[in-house]
Amino acid sequence: MSKTALITGASSGIGAEIAKILSSEGFKVILTARRENKLRSLADSLCGESRIVVCDLSLPEECERLYNELKNEKISVLVNNAGFGSLGKFTEIPLETELKMIDTNIKAVHILTKLFLKDFVKADRGYILNVASSAGLMPGGPMMAAYYATKSYVVSLTGAIYEELRSSGSNVHISALCPGPVDTEFNSVAGCEFSVGPISARECAETGVSGLFEKKLIIVPGKTIRLSEAAARLTPRKLALAVAGKIQHSKIK
Ligand SMILES: NC(=O)c1ccc[n+]([C@@H]2O[C@H](COP(=O)([O-])OP(=O)(O)OC[C@H]3O[C@@H](n4cnc5c(N)ncnc54)[C@H](OP(=O)(O)O)[C@@H]3O)[C@@H](O)[C@H]2O)c1
Repeated sequence: MSKTALITGASSGIGAEIAKILSSEGFKVILTARRENKLRSLADSLCGESRIVVCDLSLPEECERLYNELKNEKISVLVNNAGFGSLGKFTEIPLETELKMIDTNIKAVHILTKLFLKDFVKADRGYILNVASSAGLMPGGPMMAAYYATKSYVVSLTGAIYEELRSSGSNVHISALCPGPVDTEFNSVAGCEFSVGPISARECAETGVSGLFEKKLIIVPGKTIRLSEAAARLTPRKLALAVAGKIQHSKIK
């Protein structure tokens, strides 16, 4: 298998750590995000081969440009990681912010998965890691309604594609990484603080990469979040929503 990986949202946090791990495993890494200086300094710090492509993934035409620029790179690992959240009441978060979130967290993941997966299936090889969130495994997230909904979309899409690939005997694999709190720039972008202690971006990235190559469907890093996700599944929907609402309120700065 050719060893080239494309990582979106590689300018900070989980994406940057995934890029470092894949680079250390011998992959040529292609790093994309909007902040060129951050991508450049990450690329300069890596020992292996790398390339940067500056791209605003909230624009569908930019997602297509990214694919067209890279389709001959023989990419075998796609990490759809770019994304952001926003804390606040549904009636108070600006519609524009939520539509940009839907474009970045949903549309970009959908477009890139569709375009690269077709090539992966044709070649009968490749891995896709969609960075969702434990939020995507919950019935909803009061005070972060749109963010939780975007991540549910990613979990649902990934699960369906996983089964289509599995049942057709394909060698292509797709996983959803579903972390709880991770110490990155996420909070400063979302305007919140953590209610429980975060894991490091490195730990999250390591669990994500190993889970992907172990061909897991859902990867939940950290014992605490695995336990609370299992508990939420056994909890009646309205109670789970009330608990989620309390947790989100405690994130207000
Ligand atoms: N941190 C957490 O607690 C947590 C928990 C669960 C899931 N997640 C998910 O993990 C993923 C990575 O987030 P993170 O925690 O590592 O946060 P982060 O440090 O803020 O990183 C987000 C990355 O996404 C990129 N990005 C955002 N909007 C973009 C756009 N329009 N076009 C291209 N790139 C864009 C950012 O790059 P530029 O700003 O340079 O464009 C940055 O590289 C996200 O999908 C997030 O929802 C995070």
